[in-house]
Amino acid sequence: MSEQQHPALVVLISGQGRNLEAIINAYKRGRLSVDLRAVISNRSTAPGLAYARNAGISTHVIAARENEQREDYDARLAELIQECSPDLIALAGFMRILSSGFVQQFSGKLINIHPSLLPKYRGLDTHRKALAAGDSKHGASIHFVSEDLDAGPVLLQGSIDVAAGDTPEALAQRLMQQVEQRIYPKALEWIATGRATLSDGHIEFDGYILEAPIHEDCSEKSAAPFLD
Ligand code: GRF
Repeated sequence: MSEQQHPALVVLISGQGRNLEAIINAYKRGRLSVDLRAVISNRSTAPGLAYARNAGISTHVIAARENEQREDYDARLAELIQECSPDLIALAGFMRILSSGFVQQFSGKLINIHPSLLPKYRGLDTHRKALAAGDSKHGASIHFVSEDLDAGPVLLQGSIDVAAGDTPEALAQRLMQQVEQRIYPKALEWIATGRATLSDGHIEFDGYILEAPIHEDCSEKSAAPFLD
């Protein structure tokens, strides 16, 4: 724990960083009880890095070398992460698959956001898949990371209605603003304050085993996460 007794958080990104932005905003507003130690990206051009730097948060880039084995990259990443001594590691659009060794090393500390109502649509292209299936609801999930991709225990899901004429891009944007940027800081706060914990592969929330993910209907929510 940090000197402020808040869990130390490291955020991993690869791209735009809109989830990171929501995490930083919550942190700056005192709505996220963490010590935000660092932001790490595998891409030097990730726009999220500039956002973090402007917010005064330390940033690191660790790019994969040509033909580097996944395990070798992950070992270098793990070393950098260890230097930050995090209690929690939030994957926020970190677009690399993590090796089993890496996941085991940080077991219980790794959290991810996935843009679907898991277990639906693991992997990429979730918005297109939801539209192609004719789903009336689409959503995002905050889950603990396990060795299988997008398959760890889910803590919180938020959903919106799919609108007639939605394109994958329109749906993705609404999901980001109304759901993702809202539920990620919220779930991280639950974990940071000990309301949500992982033990023996299941989640306990307020002392009770969570039988199903907590669900929030975000259809009517504004795009400004902290107004409600
Ligand atoms: C988000 O949709 C997130 O759910 C997914 O990747 C995207 C990252 O977007 N894992 P951003 O970098 O947070 O803007």
